[in-house]
Amino acid sequence: MREARRRRYLMCRPTYFTVAYEINPWMHKDVPTDTARAVAQWEVLRETYLALGHTVELVDPLPGLPDMVYTANGATVVDGIAYTAKFRYPERAAESPAIEAWLTRDGFTVAHATQINEGEGDILFTERAILAGTGFRSDHASHLEIQETFGRPVVSLRLVDPRFYHLDTALAILTDDHLIAYYPGAFSAGSQKVLARLFPDAVIASEADAMPLGINCVSDGKHVIHSPAAVGLAEQLRERGFEPIAVDTSELLKGGGGAKCCTLELRTAPLSPGEHLSTWGSGAGRLRGHAIHDDEADGPGDGHPHGGRPAMPGEHPGHAGVTA
Ligand code: ARG
Repeated sequence: MREARRRRYLMCRPTYFTVAYEINPWMHKDVPTDTARAVAQWEVLRETYLALGHTVELVDPLPGLPDMVYTANGATVVDGIAYTAKFRYPERAAESPAIEAWLTRDGFTVAHATQINEGEGDILFTERAILAGTGFRSDHASHLEIQETFGRPVVSLRLVDPRFYHLDTALAILTDDHLIAYYPGAFSAGSQKVLARLFPDAVIASEADAMPLGINCVSDGKHVIHSPAAVGLAEQLRERGFEPIAVDTSELLKGGGGAKCCTLELRTAPLSPGEHLSTWGSGAGRLRGHAIHDDEADGPGDGHPHGGRPAMPGEHPGHAGVTA
């Protein structure tokens, strides 16, 4: 039986979405985009998270930043620390301060990156190790900076196929502790061996599922939001006890992104011993949105389905989605 954990996500409505430049092989300026359709698909994605009981925070979209919908690239947030993004291409550079400003306002401790990195696009969290991609966007030097920033081991992985230019296009974290899915062909021979050694039980995705960016999916530990085109992957996930949920993000695929690209997870610091839930509401980002396990959440009767704190805006207390 898989267990969902309530998540807190940062998203950005694709109000200004279009393909105005080409910085990955998916983007073609001459292919028309339909911004209204992108917004409608994005709304379904957001509503899906809310219906599952997750919290979705919104950062205001900015004109002239058509890729801002891909908030996963805007930072990496672990243990209440926000490590800022430093984009490879100038077209996206202004996104980083906008996301940083939001995270600062929310109370996160900001760690400024000195090395080029594109946030959760290339930096994926597991309790065992942070997996960090390089080859197209994030510089290898950022990986050591990430390790020092979070005090968590970082495993570097080399991407070799330009279609899978960010780690999150080729690898997905399915459970916080260690279960992942990935498409081996996106990685160098050495990195494939590393993945096989560290994650022998991984879900191995096919090229057919990787191609529509099916691996660019979002798991809460139980439900996996994925592209409807990733039919084989959905079947593999079902066999492993997950509940795959198809959400069409095909308009956003024109920019080279799927569900995961549109979703930045805000990971707060774990409560240290002696800290009580009564300190909730101090406004500190590291406390807000703290992980609540199923057995703590949705408990009968106490009126506080979040382990003793009031529901945060956007949360759907007691929704069946996150009960195990
Ligand atoms: N057009 C964007 C870029 O090339 C897409 C980013 C997709 N995001 C992701 N997390 N893979 O930067």
